[in-house]
Amino acid sequence: MKLPSLKEAFAAVEERLMAVVETDVLTLEEASQHIISSGGKRVRPQLLLLSYAACGGTTPMQAVDLAAAVEMVHTATLVHDDINDHSDFRRGKMAVHKRWGRTFALLAGDFLFTKVYELMAPYGNPFNVMMADACVKLVEGETLQAHAAKTGEIDRETYKKIIARKTASLFEVGARMGAAFAGATEATVEAFRQYGYNLGMAFQIVDDILDVIGDPEALGKPVGLDVAQNRGVMVAEGGVAVMGGNGHTAVAELPDEDPVKRMMIRMRESGAIELARMQAIELAERAREALSAVPASPAKEELLGLVDLVVDRTM
Ligand code: IPE
Ligand code: IPE
Ligand code: MG
Ligand code: MG
Repeated sequence: MKLPSLKEAFAAVEERLMAVVETDVLTLEEASQHIISSGGKRVRPQLLLLSYAACGGTTPMQAVDLAAAVEMVHTATLVHDDINDHSDFRRGKMAVHKRWGRTFALLAGDFLFTKVYELMAPYGNPFNVMMADACVKLVEGETLQAHAAKTGEIDRETYKKIIARKTASLFEVGARMGAAFAGATEATVEAFRQYGYNLGMAFQIVDDILDVIGDPEALGKPVGLDVAQNRGVMVAEGGVAVMGGNGHTAVAELPDEDPVKRMMIRMRESGAIELARMQAIELAERAREALSAVPASPAKEELLGLVDLVVDRTM
């Protein structure tokens, strides 16, 4: 967050996240603070606060809990997602389920989700309804993904539907709530919603690309899990088909000491990455266009900068 006027609010979001999970049930507090303090890019609260400022909001401290709530939803989903995805590392540290075990990770995720009620309560309607809708979509997206991975039926359309719900929903609601909380007109709120949606779609495509070409050290999480578990953009774009069959078969068939590494090389050669990147760039362009009628401001500049960051990111 470069904008000086938002620095204080952004720091307050961090404090709020850590403080709101305090409890005398120490396992919940420790597991929650472990993942919150492990870092993370904080893209979603930035999106909310910047959208608020770009719509003329002048008291960002009042939006702190709203921004913290969006990050809290994200944090909760990561704890549960790492169980589902059998991923042992998150934000450069041990995943919660790896360190505390499945049971406590499930409970810690529930705890974090429940804390969203506390953060959101003062905002009343329509904010609580918007947030609830995003949370429902998120769970639907993760469920559709699990189904698709099981059946192997992931075409481009299904993939789009999955990432729209599991990832873009939260970006969308962040930008939308930021604009609405600043008192923007309906048309402006809609423009920010579209910005968030397209940014979120691009974000997930890039995340899926990084699962194939990224550096696990920089990402702070493992790579290669998507293809191995039959999901992600490479599966949707036919990278797996190039290798014959689904990820599991492909890995098993490759005669290499490090089959995942070998598979990644083959995936990169399949051409699916280029197809995926083109889609991310197009979505990023749509995100930019969504803000075309928004008056120039430092916050708008940062929102546009965020689009480039999302497309070019390596972590
Ligand atoms: C990871 O999100 C989950 C996805 C939706 C791809 P981030 O990449 O924003 O994770 P952190 O918060 O920076 O760790
Ligand atoms: C993000 O998708 C899913 C959520 C909405 C939590 P991924 O499964 O690709 O996210 P990472 O790669 O584990 O961060
Ligand atoms: Mg995952
Ligand atoms: Mg991923």
